[in-house]
Amino acid sequence: MKNPGFDAFLGPKGENGELFKELILKVIDNHLDWRKNSFPSDKSLYESKPANPGEFQEILDEFLKLHNTNLPYFHPRYSAQMLKDPSIFTLIGYLAFMMSNPNNHAYEGGPITTLMELEVTDMMLKMCGFNEGWGHLASGGSLANTEALWAVRDTRNDGAVYFSEVSHYSWKRICTILRIPGFKEIEVDGFCRMDLNHLEDNLNTKNAMMVVANLGSTGSGSIDDIEGLLQLREKYGFHLHIDAAYGGFSRSVFLDNNNDVLPYSQEFGLSEYAYRQLIAIKDADSLTIDPHKQGLISYGAGAVIYKDQKLREPLSNTAPYTYHKTDKPNIGMFSLEGSRPGAMAAACWLTYKYLPLNFSGTGKIISGSLKTAKKFYELVDKSANLSNFLYPDLDINTFYAGKIIDSVDNLNRLALQIYNEYSIENPDAQFIISKFVMPATIIKKRFPFILNTDNKNATVLRSVFIKHWGEVDDYYYTRLLVEELDRFASLSN
Ligand SMILES: Cc1ncc(COP(=O)(O)O)c(C=O)c1O
Repeated sequence: MKNPGFDAFLGPKGENGELFKELILKVIDNHLDWRKNSFPSDKSLYESKPANPGEFQEILDEFLKLHNTNLPYFHPRYSAQMLKDPSIFTLIGYLAFMMSNPNNHAYEGGPITTLMELEVTDMMLKMCGFNEGWGHLASGGSLANTEALWAVRDTRNDGAVYFSEVSHYSWKRICTILRIPGFKEIEVDGFCRMDLNHLEDNLNTKNAMMVVANLGSTGSGSIDDIEGLLQLREKYGFHLHIDAAYGGFSRSVFLDNNNDVLPYSQEFGLSEYAYRQLIAIKDADSLTIDPHKQGLISYGAGAVIYKDQKLREPLSNTAPYTYHKTDKPNIGMFSLEGSRPGAMAAACWLTYKYLPLNFSGTGKIISGSLKTAKKFYELVDKSANLSNFLYPDLDINTFYAGKIIDSVDNLNRLALQIYNEYSIENPDAQFIISKFVMPATIIKKRFPFILNTDNKNATVLRSVFIKHWGEVDDYYYTRLLVEELDRFASLSN
């Protein structure tokens, strides 16, 4: 592929639309031929002409109108949430198998797509540096995390679960559902990374069955100190699970075609710290890693991988009406979810076959996003009226209006003015960004002298550059975004 950043997507203006139509037609023709040629000597049930769509056309027109009022997630002007434009290969791969609709819970429900799922999982294991282990796709990160904790709980039976206070909201729910008696949020430092001293204090009070590290956290993309956590694991013996639902695919940016780690280069779009933590995940015990976030795939494709196959045992399940072929891989025998679309495995398979999980394929595209985040940081730094909150460990940027902020009230006031203009709140917004509201304790650590008499939550602005398009044309849209926000901030100040 000459230009994976361009060729792999429909393009913000549908630039690759003709190519897409050609490929989709090929897939549809192939499917129709397959139907015709299955039991070829059977007669058709319908001798008459094809069905008349009749009133369906009207409903379809109404539906398409609704469709076009949705937010333009594909456009570089949208950087609010983690919505990735799926690659062309994802759409084609999904459609191809969606038309026959296999179900990957059991081998008999989807023999081909089950094998695809296992191959895709193997690709992910290799990308994460796991030489052994197993895993599978899930409908999303929350389900993947739930399953991992369930497996660990029923293997270890005792101990607390620790995760940082900026972890995904689902962790508290997961611990509640699984009735974990001791779970605790660990404080973060001023960079939204887990405070390992606070963790160790807690480990000394109550041993942990599992510690969850973020790579990266949902709000700011911050990466916990995984090297430090591995050292603590040596001492305290907990299961280290990495919630890499968002950032795990960033590991592909520095892998060569043999999955070997390339020496550090700024071309990856990562700081040396982030590069080192991404290398270190190879020594974790399990990982949640979502293809539907950085991995170019449409929703719902999460995934969980485990280093120790024994963690399958507590999940093991049989059913008298399926899972008969015990010599065949029945993924549902060892997973929390039941029915799952085989089409999703097919979408991943087609995408990663063409765009392998290394620097020559998917990694090249993701490094475009990571570099966009770094460029945005640099532009904000140089701007007259904006400031960075954190250096982006991944491709999520946090920033605020003003150069010197004296009080949380001012920080919040200016952030809200910008947010109301450049977010889903404004139907005519020229750029769509989001915000990150954090506890007073975090802002105090980052800016010890900031005034916050009532200990209010602090709001900073947030952009997620999950689409690599911010990099294209010498960062055209990234520059435009900063110029626009800077201009607006100068009026608000
Ligand atoms: C770090 C992290 N973990 C877990 C999740 C949950 O993933 P999902 O929404 O796919 O269930 C998210 C979602 O944003 C996330 O950012």
